[in-house]
Formats: sequence, C-alpha cells, structure tokens
Amino acid sequence: MIKGVILAGGRGTRLWPVTKVVGKHFLPVGDKTIIHYPILTLKKAGIKDILIVCGQEHTDQYVKLLGSGAELGVNLYYTIQVDPLGIAHGLGLARSFAEGHPVALILGDNIFGDDLSGAVKKFSKKEKGSMVILKQVPDPKRFGVASFRKDGTIKNVVEKPQKPATNWAVTGFYLYDNRVFDIIKNLKPSARGEYEITDVNNWYINEGTMDHFKAKKFWVDAGTFDSLHLANILIRKQI
Ligand code: TTP
Repeated sequence: MIKGVILAGGRGTRLWPVTKVVGKHFLPVGDKTIIHYPILTLKKAGIKDILIVCGQEHTDQYVKLLGSGAELGVNLYYTIQVDPLGIAHGLGLARSFAEGHPVALILGDNIFGDDLSGAVKKFSKKEKGSMVILKQVPDPKRFGVASFRKDGTIKNVVEKPQKPATNWAVTGFYLYDNRVFDIIKNLKPSARGEYEITDVNNWYINEGTMDHFKAKKFWVDAGTFDSLHLANILIRKQI
C-alpha cells in the first residue's frame, strides 16, 4: 500500500504580501483552496492515507478546513515542519507515518490536469526504485530539469539550471520505495541551505531504478501570482 505525503509548509515569499497573513495553500483556485487539489490528485490515484506536513503557523487552519478528511473520502494525518529546510527534509518527517511502505509525495501547491493513477499502477509493479512525473514547460530554468540517455531513460536531473539541457521539468509528484528515508538521512544541505529532492532523485537515477511518466494535460505550481491566476483559468475551464 502506498502512503501519501503532501508538503504544505514553506514560506510562500513569492506571494508576499498576501502570505504574510494567509497561508499560500488556503488561497482559492476554482471553487476550492489550493490544498484541495493535491489531496484529490492522490485520491484519484487510489492513495487515501495522507500525511499533511504543515508549516507551524497554519496547522490549526488545516485541521479546521480539512478535518479527518472524511468529507473528501480520505484519511488525513498532520505533522509540523518547524523550519522549511527543503522538500526532502519535509518528506523525511513522514518516516514513521509510512511504516515501511512506499510513498507518493506531492507538493501542496501543485495542480495536475492529468489523472496519475496509471503512473501509480506502473510504479506499484516495480520491486524497488522511484518514479517522477515530467512535463514540458516553456521556462525550465525555474525547475529541476531532466536530461535523457539514448534509450529514453533519465540520465540526470539538474536543479534550476542556467542552461537547461531539455524543457522537461520534474513536477511536484514523486513516488519512492521506503529506502527514501535512509537516503534523506544521508543528504547534505545544498548551497542554498536546503535538503534537495533533486539529490534524492539523482540517487535513484545512479542506481538505475528511476522511471518516469510524461504528463499530457496541464501542470501548474500555484506559487506565484501569475501561476495562481493561470491555475484559476485552467480549473474554471474544467468546471
Ligand atoms: P516552494 O514553492 O519551492 O517554496 P515556498 O512555498 O516556501 O514558496 P516561495 O519560494 O515563494 O518562498 O515550495 C513548494 C511546495 O513545497 C509548497 O507547497 C511548500 C512546500 N514546502 C514545504 O512544505 N517545506 C519546505 O521546506 C519547502 C521548501 C517547501
């Protein structure tokens, strides 16, 4: 059974001054808040036990908004990331929740047009390893960018490259076997002082156990004013 983890901490500096008073994940997209979308993405993929990793300022608001998850048809659990030390650090907090199971990690501000249940099914058949969801983007410099070997497998991922090798971004939905928690334990912080999920991904790539799935519909991380606006346009079209 795959356990779900949603990262909903962070600083949200790109949405200042709004995020001085409101957590990013409570801003509206369509007829819901941002945080509803990753929950529903996991649910659609058959993942119903979900840990929400909250920043410490907004924990009570998550509980007030989402409660046990029963209204949404999922089981929600909560924990606190005291300092936003990076995405890999946030995932590391899910070790005891995962109880030896594989995990699906989704970033709390990521909205997917695709149904990712096919990717999750494919990952479930693997004995070990990881899978990332890729999407072609016009502005790869903002993301982790994948390059490929001749056989189509991922050669490496570079975080926010100056000269991107491709325009395939690694999105905020990742699948890992349970060894990920040992990998995270051995990570060193990057130059920007964060525990980077890209280092985790490159560990699996070097082992030769990384697969990928290419998203066909839209993918937005609603973390800037422009992308939040775009997310609203795309979701309203769907509604
Ligand atoms: P980001 O958008 O990279 O970071 P942020 O939310 O702090 O925003 P900004 O860059 O504008 O300051 O984070 C992506 C998602 O991951 C977002 O939903 C918040 C979450 N996150 C955590 O939960 N913990 C962390 O340590 C980090 C870095 C991000």
